[in-house]
Amino acid sequence: MIRYLFLVLFYCFLPGPAHFAESPEISAGVREEYISRVNPVVLSEKQIRYFTRQFKNKCSRCHGKKGDGQGKKAKGAIPPADFTDSAFMNSRTDVQFYNQIEKGGQGKSSMPAYGPGSAINWNEEKIWGMVAFIRRFSKASP
Ligand code: HEC
Repeated sequence: MIRYLFLVLFYCFLPGPAHFAESPEISAGVREEYISRVNPVVLSEKQIRYFTRQFKNKCSRCHGKKGDGQGKKAKGAIPPADFTDSAFMNSRTDVQFYNQIEKGGQGKSSMPAYGPGSAINWNEEKIWGMVAFIRRFSKASP
């Protein structure tokens, strides 16, 4: 039993991959009002076309056209993650993605803030829509 506890403790303190450890969304924490929230947006075909264009115009220079994090501007201390990697995608909740898009890198990375009140000023529905859209990169036919 003691040995089991020790093992659990050991795994808790193992450093994760650098990207996860440094990601500002972890240190910033998840906004409380969203903890129990599930993405309310299910994309229609029309919305998928809309967010495909939005992603191409606004995100792909850093996140890559395919969402693989290989955009030309992807370099930096904390590079964008690979949205086509289902292991990464499964390790993050919709709320974490929501917060990241809303608040951006907050000075720690080049990720801009898109949320209400930011210079870009997307509303909640649009951010949830984008979260639903980026989930598609790790599915069979994005
Ligand atoms: C100027 C470059 C840049 C642009 C433009 C940009 N991002 Fe990012 N984004 C980043 C970087 C760098 C990170 C990783 C560091 C971090 O998490 O802050 C990131 C992180 C993220 C994350 C968290 C997952 C991860 O990669 O760790 C999401 C979700 C995200 N971006 C979505 C978007 C969306 C959606 C858009 C377009 C509306 C966008 N980003 C535009 C640079 C950018």
